[in-house]
Amino acid sequence: MRQFRFSVLVRVCLFLLLVFPTAAATAQDDIERRVNDLLARMTLEEKIGQMNLISHGLPLRWEDIAEGKVGALLNFNNAQDVARAQALARQSRLKIPLLFGLDVLHGFRTQFPLPLGEAAAFNPRLSRLASEWGAREAAHVGVNWTFAPMADLSRDSRWGRIVEGFGEDPHLGSVLTAARVEGFQAGGLATAVKHFAGYGAPQGGRDYDTTYIPRASMYDIYLPPFRAALEAGAASFMAAFNALNGEPSTANAWLLTDVLRHQWGFDGFVTSDWAGIHELIGHGVAEDGADAARMAVMAGVDMDMMGRLYIQHLPEEVRAGRVPESVIDEAVRRILRTKMKLGLFDKPDIDPAHTDAEFPTPEARRLAREVARETLVLLQNRGDVLPVKPGIRSVAVVGPLADAPRDQFGPHGARAHPEDSVTILEGIRRRASQTGIDVRHAPACDLFCRSTDQLPAAIAAAQASDLVIAVFGEPGDLSGEAASRAHMNLSGRQAEVLEALAATGKPIALVIVGGRPLVLGNLAEKIPSILMAWYPGTEGGPAVADVLFGDVSPSGKLPVTWPRATGQMPLYYNRLPTGRPTLAENRFTLKYQDEEITPLYPFGWGLSYTRFGYSEPAIAKPQLEAGEELEVSVTVTNTGDRPGQEVVQLYTRDPVASRSRPLQELKAFEKVALNPGEAKRLTLRIPFEDLGFHLDDGTHLVEAGAIQVFVGGNSLAEPVGEARIMETIRTPPGQRASSSTIAQ
Ligand code: BGC
Repeated sequence: MRQFRFSVLVRVCLFLLLVFPTAAATAQDDIERRVNDLLARMTLEEKIGQMNLISHGLPLRWEDIAEGKVGALLNFNNAQDVARAQALARQSRLKIPLLFGLDVLHGFRTQFPLPLGEAAAFNPRLSRLASEWGAREAAHVGVNWTFAPMADLSRDSRWGRIVEGFGEDPHLGSVLTAARVEGFQAGGLATAVKHFAGYGAPQGGRDYDTTYIPRASMYDIYLPPFRAALEAGAASFMAAFNALNGEPSTANAWLLTDVLRHQWGFDGFVTSDWAGIHELIGHGVAEDGADAARMAVMAGVDMDMMGRLYIQHLPEEVRAGRVPESVIDEAVRRILRTKMKLGLFDKPDIDPAHTDAEFPTPEARRLAREVARETLVLLQNRGDVLPVKPGIRSVAVVGPLADAPRDQFGPHGARAHPEDSVTILEGIRRRASQTGIDVRHAPACDLFCRSTDQLPAAIAAAQASDLVIAVFGEPGDLSGEAASRAHMNLSGRQAEVLEALAATGKPIALVIVGGRPLVLGNLAEKIPSILMAWYPGTEGGPAVADVLFGDVSPSGKLPVTWPRATGQMPLYYNRLPTGRPTLAENRFTLKYQDEEITPLYPFGWGLSYTRFGYSEPAIAKPQLEAGEELEVSVTVTNTGDRPGQEVVQLYTRDPVASRSRPLQELKAFEKVALNPGEAKRLTLRIPFEDLGFHLDDGTHLVEAGAIQVFVGGNSLAEPVGEARIMETIRTPPGQRASSSTIAQ
């Protein structure tokens, strides 16, 4: 398999920069010289052609490619089409090669777990690996640009796209977004980090709805994963559909120019989202297409995805003097620079004989299984129903999602083929046959559980078996883009079916498949063991079986707070304190009259088949000066009788500051594997500047005073001491070096 590497040139430059700073500068200068040389030979129409991104299918006119009217294509997913288009581009006057973009989020042909599930692994190595494999398969058929990773933080699981990201935490999000960028690039794809910015906080959790986020919160919470992506080498950004504080992101000069270009120094390009420029009319800020095109380009959108507004209107806008040609030149420079860094000008076109049919290879399957089993979160396990005990001779696998090859992929399957899936049912069957356990299967209802006609057969299967493994949750169509939910419960009659299964009195474990935490109601009491499987991908079945049968202890932790009721949304652990913290005996404190105020399972939560003890926490230096690190050591011991992995989590709180600061913030974590009885001393470090926060104008402050430290296996971590910051450090906007983003 061909594995061209993204930005070989960039890597060479970085290497040279370290060894021979002048040589690296020369390579960079060389790119700039070539870009400027090409630009000088381009007509205005050819320049604007580079800014045009068109999808496969209508309205693509293939001749437009040869005429230099298209700079990039999307939804090309096979080598024949890529080769045909690239050959046409080479017939154009200046022979500028095309970018081929696709949503490669969690695999191409081989499906890895959806990003939210992958986040539950709390394992940047695996995030990098999953992204790299998806990229390699896509690059094999000529795709060279992915619309990923999604760096949108979300605190509201009603929003269907929460499944495409990392959940609710900026630190976890920054580490994993950086790891994903690195992985995609290592596998041969340029990245488009999306959706810039604030898209994950739409009002009411409604996809595309408006977002209100104070700028200080943008800097502290929503922007850090994007910054991390940039620092990991992201080639491009995608502007979001939503309006941020009344200004649509696609025409938002603060986001696209002030922050991205001036404060962060980004020199790649920005694309709109699908027809996002046209939507400026819908947002009510542009009168017509020409207006929309002008606003977007002036704000900093370099490429028009599926709007055709740049190609239609920008030539006239420039000639009429409403858009300076220098703005167009700069946009085209950014696009050409990316193409050159990718090596597209120098590399031969894709061989049309390449096909994805050779995937999933045995190695890809092995990796997909390795990643998937680390994403599984054991939410509860009363009476140790799991893992399957040696005495169990028969298992009833019940539920429509046990045998749902397509739905275990979740949304954005790229070239997913359902026949590649090993379903959860098949995974259990294969594993059970090794120890002579009988497996009965009864779906109980259809995917959406609209009727309970098949329930009697499921009850009979349960009654005839020693153990029930129930597999329910969200079919793929209920998750992803445009899949907001007002009711986050198990859809249709699933709860009724599960109650009937629980009433059989058989030991029962529920495996939830889905893209968000689901409201479980009283099922959390009725069902002793619950395992969150997210959308586990091609090898989901074997991975789930590995954990159910105890071949591997579960080690996933929740990247998102699990609510008791949809009405608790938005719900997140790193919230601000209030003047009236919850007091059971005082009505006039923070609470609901009809629901608990706490989540069902907190952020960072996840059980194992073994137990972990924490001891001897120590803060290396109780007084911190600028430039130092807050260093915390702790000994973690496997006190149970099975091997397992623990995600050691370090949280801080600034208890008194000039503005209210979160009750807790995750600042570092490390996943550690321990055998029974084994102990390891870990040291986690927080850079000084990560102990601060922003003001609305982007100023960063680390304030003198105490910082409380908590360590543990979830966000209910124990306090272990304090450190003291000796002096307030104030850094103006754009001058702060970010550091929390160093991928582990
Ligand atoms: C989505 C993007 C995606 C694009 C291209 C849009 O609808 O919002 O995330 O990259 O389509 O498929």
